[in-house]
Parts: sequence; C-alpha cells; structure tokens
Amino acid sequence: MAEHEIRKGLVGVVADTTGVSKVDPETNSLLYRGYPVQELAATQSVEAVAHLLWHGELPSDAELAELRRVERAHRALDDRVRAAIDLVPLDAHPMDDVRTAVSVIGAIGTAGSQNVMDAVGSPEENLARSLELFAALPAIVAYGQRRRRGLEPVAAREDLDYAAHFLWLTFEEEPDPIVVDAFSRSMVLYAEHSFNASTFTGRVIASTLSDLYSAVVGAIGALKGPLHGGANEAVLHVLEEIGDASRVESWLDDALAEKRKIMGFGHRVYKRGDSRVPTMKAALDSLVEHYDRPDVAELTEALETAFVERKGIYPNLDYPSGPAYRLMGFDTATFTPLFVAARIVGWTAHIMEQQASNALIRPLSAYDGPAERHIEGYVPDAAEREAAERPEEAAGA
Ligand code: COA
Repeated sequence: MAEHEIRKGLVGVVADTTGVSKVDPETNSLLYRGYPVQELAATQSVEAVAHLLWHGELPSDAELAELRRVERAHRALDDRVRAAIDLVPLDAHPMDDVRTAVSVIGAIGTAGSQNVMDAVGSPEENLARSLELFAALPAIVAYGQRRRRGLEPVAAREDLDYAAHFLWLTFEEEPDPIVVDAFSRSMVLYAEHSFNASTFTGRVIASTLSDLYSAVVGAIGALKGPLHGGANEAVLHVLEEIGDASRVESWLDDALAEKRKIMGFGHRVYKRGDSRVPTMKAALDSLVEHYDRPDVAELTEALETAFVERKGIYPNLDYPSGPAYRLMGFDTATFTPLFVAARIVGWTAHIMEQQASNALIRPLSAYDGPAERHIEGYVPDAAEREAAERPEEAAGA
C-alpha cells in the first residue's frame, strides 16, 4: 500500500497562497486582485491591468502615465536581441525566438553580477525588469512573424498605446479601433490565471533564488506545450482540418472514435465553462462582423455546439482566441508567443510574490523502480560503510 497519497498531475493540490488572482470553478469566475476579469477587459487598458497585477491596485492617472512612459522607452528591439533571434532557424517554432530573446535580455540584465546571489535583484529591480520585459515582448513577437514572412522589423513608435502599438509593430498599418479593442481584451484575458503550469514553473525556478529572467524562460518552455498555451494554435489546425460547418458532425465522429483530444476544449480547473470565454467570444463576434467572415462564426459555433452536446466539455479561452488572432492577421504559429506577451505580467507578479515570501519548492516522490541492487564485485570503502549506517544523514539533498 502506498505510504503517501499521490495526486498525479498535482490535481487538487493547493501548493501555496496567492494574492494575485482567484479562480473559482464553482462560480465560474476569475478575479485579478479582486476585480472580475470581464470588468477589467471591458474598461481597462493592458497597461492599467499590468499595474494592477504588479502593485495590487489600479493605477492613478499619474501612475498610469509613468508606467506608459517607461514602457514606451523600452519598446525598441535591442540589436543584440535581434542578432540572437536571427540565429534561430526560420523553420523553428517562433516560441523558440521568444525563449531565446528573453534569455539574452536576462544575460544583458544581469551582466556584471559577481555571483548567482547578485543576479536575484531587489524587489525594485525585479519590478523594473518585469516592466522592461512587458515593453520588449511585442517587438520580439512581431519580429518573429515578420522575419518568417521575409520582412524587416518595424521601428517602434511612442505615440500609440500598448495594444495599438503591438499591432503596428506586426503589420506596419494603423490598426482599426475595433481590432485594437478585441486585441486589448485578449491580452487582458490572457494576463493571469493563478497556479497554471507555466506560472507554477516560474515560481519553482524563483523558489531556488534564481533570477526573474530564468524563471520567465522556464515559464515560456512550459507554455509552449499543446496541453497549455500551445492549444490556441492547435485550435486553428482543428478548424482548418474541418474546413466548414457542414463537416463538423462527420469530423467529430472520426475524431472521437480515434479518442482524439479536441484542442480548445476542457480545463483542469473549470469543468462547467471557462470564465473568460464569453468576453473573448464577444470580441471574436466583433471581428467576424468587421472582417465580414460569417463562415468563421458558423464553423466555431457548430463545433462548440456539437462537442458540448456529445461530451459535456466546454471551450476554454484558446477556442475563441485562436480564430480571433487569425482574423486579425496573425500567423497560427504566432498565437502562443502572443500568449507569452500577455502572460508576462502574471508570471512576473507571481515570481515577485514568490520572492517576497519564499520557500524552496521541492516535493517528494514515491519510488517505484527496482529494489536496491549492487554492482557485482564492488566493495564499499570505509566512509560509504559508515554513511550507510547513518541512513537519515545519507538521505540528505
Ligand atoms: N477533447 C476530448 N476529450 C477531452 C478533452 C478534450 N479537449 N478534455 C478532456 N477530455 C476528456 C478526457 O479524454 C478524459 O476522458 P476519460 O475520463 O474518458 O479518459 C476526461 O475528459 C478528463 O480529461 P483529463 O485530460 O483527464 O482532464 P485534465 O483536467 O487533466 O485536462 C486539459 C485538462 C486542459 C489538459 C484537457 O481538457 C485537454 O487536453 N484539453 C485540450 C487542450 C487544451 O485546450 N488546453 C488548453 C487549456 S486552457
């Protein structure tokens, strides 16, 4: 009989407290620092929500102006970061550009540290690093898409807010306000989601007293997986495979017979619907109308209706955001990098929270490998024999 209860995938395990956000599957709600996310998406800019998540309160006008000033000053793609991105093969996934770029920014940001303790940084330094990453990521993500299309990066401007500027950097066009609004809402909805896999990864790394950049690089790696952030691009592949609404039922018959997971549906925490979906669905509807693409709405609604009817599993945020990003003109492979640009705020808020009240995160495991055995002919020396007689000390780290 197992000595400890094992919760595979840490299902249902409460690992720590957090004041950053609250997910309540019972009421289907998500609060950032107490505010319902749909209220924030409808009324606040991406920058104001970043301030809220980092500082705990929405900004005053002066605080927002200051955050915007610093953000605008750090928008340009650093030449060294661009050179590093250019080393990533064009047929590599753009998440690899983003992971590489943040790693290089981290090396630049911690250069001169005399030892690993120095790199950790003070709370003020980590707040500044968080804002710099938030400011730098749009140019990195936009360049990832542009260079795969054979285009040069677009020079940063200082006269546009974050969301409009992100679209400008990607498409080099003045974006329509409807598109800016939908994009801004998606960034707010993706900004934070408690102890999801990538955030927890970041907290584990921060708990070793590694630096914030390293924690973010690890979080990016976790987000790349299709069971997590990678699902938004996987949704597009599914919709393209189906083609149009008339094929939904037969496609679903085959997919379910093959026991395929349908990307964009299901959630570890929400079992009766993802609290962010209605807001993102409304944003998708506004884009469908703006671009006059009723076929997109017909297909997504047909798949949702058929899948919910058959399995009782509801769409998650990736389901409406995938087609929304596609309508805006983003390449499918850029969707998860967009998620990074949004989630950098939540990750860094959690990393700073972890640093402020740290305990090394180090769970136990129940061993189920071969019983103890020995190398034939091996004779332990005196020190080993002595250690074996003191098993509690030998168990150590
Ligand atoms: N398509 C088909 N079946 C699904 C499903 C999906 N998207 N999501 C869950 N299920 C089924 C599982 O097959 C399983 O069925 P079973 O009990 O008959 O084996 C049951 O629902 C429970 O699923 P499980 O994967 O164990 O739940 P989980 O809490 O570990 O998984 C996800 C949550 C998100 C990993 C899972 O729903 C999933 O893989 N979804 C698709 C990927 C995705 O959209 N990820 C983004 C999350 S925001």
